Formats: sequence, structure tokens, C-alpha cells
Amino acid sequence: MAYITSNEEHPIDIVNIQSLEGRVKAQMDKGAFGYISGGSEDEITLRENTSAFNKKKIVPRVLQGIEKPDLSTQLFGIDLKSPIIEAPSAAQGLSHSKGEVATAIGTAEAGSIFTISTYATTLIGDAVVKNAPQFLQLYLSKDEGFNQYILEEAVKAGVKAIVLTADSTLGGYREADIVNQFQFPIPMKNLAAYSEKDGRGDGEGKGIAEIYAAAKQAIAPDDIQKVKDLTGLPVIVKGVQSPEDAVVAISAGADGIWVSNHGGRQLDGGPASFEVLPAIASAVAKRVPIIFDSGIRRGEHIFKALASGADVVAIGRPIIYGLNLGGSAGVKSVFDHFNKELTITMQLGGARNIEDVKNTSLL
Ligand code: FNR
Ligand code: LAC
Repeated sequence: MAYITSNEEHPIDIVNIQSLEGRVKAQMDKGAFGYISGGSEDEITLRENTSAFNKKKIVPRVLQGIEKPDLSTQLFGIDLKSPIIEAPSAAQGLSHSKGEVATAIGTAEAGSIFTISTYATTLIGDAVVKNAPQFLQLYLSKDEGFNQYILEEAVKAGVKAIVLTADSTLGGYREADIVNQFQFPIPMKNLAAYSEKDGRGDGEGKGIAEIYAAAKQAIAPDDIQKVKDLTGLPVIVKGVQSPEDAVVAISAGADGIWVSNHGGRQLDGGPASFEVLPAIASAVAKRVPIIFDSGIRRGEHIFKALASGADVVAIGRPIIYGLNLGGSAGVKSVFDHFNKELTITMQLGGARNIEDVKNTSLL
């Protein structure tokens, strides 16, 4: 049976980000929703990713003479309207008929960076938005031929950096997918394009565990240089939760560190991503930029992440929900809402710009 999903294309009214999940649940295929919203095992890390922000406080400031805080910043020399980028998420065709194409347009209209997943349901070249910066998120395959193929496609498409995801050498134990017997109902187009050559399959009719099984498990530091040599592009290592791993990655040539626990979808029982950010930032010591994700649902969470060492943050599920509820305009609405909350937090927290936020001490 054909997979039916959203064709919505309009801005969405948002009271708060957390409420989007319930709106999507009411209209999305059960299996797809479980795959997107779910975490691994008891979802302890999933929940603590957001609750951990409550452990730190922003002291309100007065008499600072601030009006209209400036949210703009840069990442790898790319101008950003605000310190928020889209986190790569697979199979966005589950959420909208235009999938990654719509997310890329909405992200571009938000003045931000779109990162396309290796497991996208759109060909890399088809998601390109003229004059809008994009990254490729890479899942290394056991098949070197595929790695060569997808990196060549990424360079051809003009991506500005490669995000090497290192925390998913096997899939986390995703119980929602097991209960729902979830298998991808649509093909992952970049796998499909390559499999036309060697028939390895395009992900359709498979679960994420099976897809991960074809990925390279033994990712090692020298893979960073290999990707750099193949593309000539900066490589950001995604999924770092330990200061030691950040130091190893930088020593092996990483141009950026993406602090993330995959939104609580991988190792359950690990710390909240926000809990490990300060120690990683201290180990990185401003040698390379830090992107932070997992659990961000408020502007004040963004403020706290930047005050704890991140240069920019990335948003996962909320952007997928915006895609489902409103297409590219829905994605833009999610960015706009985060920017509204961040502006208020900066004004009341005494930060006139992003540098002030980064220099703020939390209680
Ligand atoms: C992801 N994430 C992810 N990460 C990655 O490197 N490659 C990928 O293909 C995907 N796919 C994916 C699918 C879905 C449905 C989700 C929810 C997440 C992880 C993502 O980039 C990010 O790390 C987390 O989603 C951030 O947490 P929040 O914002 O979703 O809480
Ligand atoms: C996930 C993979 C695709 O989290 O990153 O489902």
C-alpha cells in the first residue's frame, strides 16, 4: 500500500515547541511517528536531554541598556541569522511528500544551514537550494564504493562540510520500531542510486537496525582524514559525548565537534547531552567550533548551551514536526519560534549579542 503523508504548505501557529509532537501524533502514520519521536530502551536519556537544562539558571539582568538583541553569528565563515541549524534526520519523506526538499527550503528561508542525511529520501543534488549553505551528514558504509560515490555527489552538489556521524555504529534498541514492526515504506534515494549499480538495496522495506548493519562499525580516527582527502572539505565529527573523544577527533584532523547523543536514540542510560557539554568545551578549548544538539525545546535551552561552550545548536525532531505540519513554511515557523524565545531570553538575560551569551555565567 502506498505510503501517505502530509502535503501541508503553510506557516504554523506555535505556542510552544513541545506541543508540536502531539499535533503530529494525531495525523502521522503510527510506525513513522514512533520511529521519529522514539528513543532507545527506557528513553531515560531522551527525557533527560531536555530536563537537564533545568539544572542551570540564567540570572536576569537589568540596567543593561539593551534593545533588540542581535542573534546573528557565523559557523565556518557562513553567516547565520541566529545560532540555530537543522540537525540531519533520515527519511524526511516520512513526514512530508516533499521531504528534504521542503526542509532545505524552509531552513534556507530561516537563514540557516541544512544538513542532508546519507539516509535521506531525496537525492543530495535534488535538495540543493540556490545560494543556501548545506552540509552532508555521512554514514560511512562497509562498501568503500558507496562512500566514494556519496562524497563525490556531495562535492558536486556544493556542500560546505561533511558531518561524520560516529555514534551510530549500530542502532540503539528502539522499542517503538519493534512494537510497530516499523520498516521504511519509501526508498532512501542516495542508497537507491548507488544500488542500481550493485543491487545492495535502497532501505525500503528494511528497519533501521538492518540499515545500520550495512554501515561501517569500526569507525576510527583515520577515517576523518580519509573523508577530508576525498572531498577537500571540513569534517565535523558528530555524536561526541566524551572530552577524550573530542581531543582524539581534533588530533585526527576534525574541523568541528558536534556534541550530541543522537537525541537519546542510541545509548540509553547515558548522560544528557547538555550535562557533558561544559567538559567537552573545556577540552576543545576553542580550537574548533562546537555544534550542540539533543533535547533543545526552548530559547532558554539555546542560551544555556551557548553559555556552556557551544557556538551553535542544532534542532532535530521539532523541525521534522514543523515539516509535517506545514512543509517548508512549517520548518521556517519552528526557526522563527525558537528565535522569538531566544530574543526574549537574551533581552532579559542581559545579552546584546551572541558573544555576550557565550560570555554569560550560569548559576
Ligand atoms: C535523527 N538523527 C540523525 N543523525 C544523523 O547523524 N544522521 C541521521 O540520519 C539521523 N536521523 C535521524 C532521524 C530521526 C527521526 C531523528 C529524530 C534523529 C539525530 C539528529 O541529527 C539529532 O542528533 C537529534 O535529533 C537531536 O535531538 P532532538 O533535537 O531531536 O531532541
Ligand atoms: C536514526 C538514524 C537514521 O536515528 O540516524 O534513526
